[in-house]
Amino acid sequence: MNVLVTGGAGFIGSHACVSLLEAGHNIVIADNFCNSSPEVLEHIKTITGRTFSHYNCDLLDYEELAEIFEKHEIDAVIHFAGLKSVPESTRIPLTYYHNNLTGTLHLLQIMEKKKVNRLVFSSSATVYGTSNQVPYEESMPTSATNPYGWTKVMIEQMLNDYTVANSDAAITCLRYFNPIGAHKSGLIGDNPNGIPNNLMPYVCQTAVGKLPFIRVFGTDFNTKDGTGVRDYLHVLDLAEGHVKALEHLEKKKGFTVYNLGTGQGTSVLELLDTFERVNNIPLKRELHDRRPGDIAESYANVDRAVKEIGWETRYSLEDMCRDSWNFIRTNTDKQAN
Ligand code: WQD
Repeated sequence: MNVLVTGGAGFIGSHACVSLLEAGHNIVIADNFCNSSPEVLEHIKTITGRTFSHYNCDLLDYEELAEIFEKHEIDAVIHFAGLKSVPESTRIPLTYYHNNLTGTLHLLQIMEKKKVNRLVFSSSATVYGTSNQVPYEESMPTSATNPYGWTKVMIEQMLNDYTVANSDAAITCLRYFNPIGAHKSGLIGDNPNGIPNNLMPYVCQTAVGKLPFIRVFGTDFNTKDGTGVRDYLHVLDLAEGHVKALEHLEKKKGFTVYNLGTGQGTSVLELLDTFERVNNIPLKRELHDRRPGDIAESYANVDRAVKEIGWETRYSLEDMCRDSWNFIRTNTDKQAN
């Protein structure tokens, strides 16, 4: 299929582009590089030996986006483009609602006009909010505790309503748990601008000496060792999930949701210890109070994805720690300060 990938230069998007190309699909990338770099496009070409069209395109510019659909015969879209920082979304909520919701609306309006019926959307486990019990199941009610999370809840609703109104539409929302790791080549990985919010990029920048120590946020949660438990999955497994979901849309119309996780919970201390062990690097850490809004545990029930799209994770926590380190140590000069 010819697949338009919005946000294809980002952490998850770039790995999904590699998997799509390796599965024989053609891609077109639209990215405004607000949290990524054009050099990632060259790395995708190097890894796959394939080339593709790409556009510096902001989804808020309707005409610019529409032009891509005029230039290319698009069969499906994978929609990654969006702002995704939880703390930033609480500081500038209107920017998040405008960017994420209006950008998605423009995309849907053009898809409807051009009769492009297949869409895979990058959603998040954050939509499970704080009132569900782990392991999270797709049928559970959704909510959020921050504007970023609400944009994911609202976009899922938009997509559901759109599917009800358009019987030819085939739309899947993939709820990511905590993607970490990097491509085995070390060419692409999680390389956020500024000081990372998320645990693994923070660990990596500490390991490479750019940050002095890791703050462990909360040691009094009701978990196995008192620290936060999350469902970390390898970004390569996550990328493969997009190919499986996309190809499933050739057979199944309507609106579906899948959890993409391992189904296993790992604590902060377990992740730090695993990273130290597999990479033989000591990590200085300081124990701190909980981060506002953090929940104790989040991990997935992945039965539906396994059964319906034949997706299963292949990589271990050790692989995730090894591959994250391999990426950061070969790209540290490019790290933003
Ligand atoms: C993981 C654990 C922290 C940093 C993420 C994204 C959010 C959304 C959902 C995409 C928690 C602890 C973290 C640090 C720490 N992603 N931690 N020290 O909170 O599950 O949310 O997934 O939709 O955008 O933020 O992931 O990596 O931020 O935190 O102790 O310096 O690590 O308390 O328990 P989280 P995270």
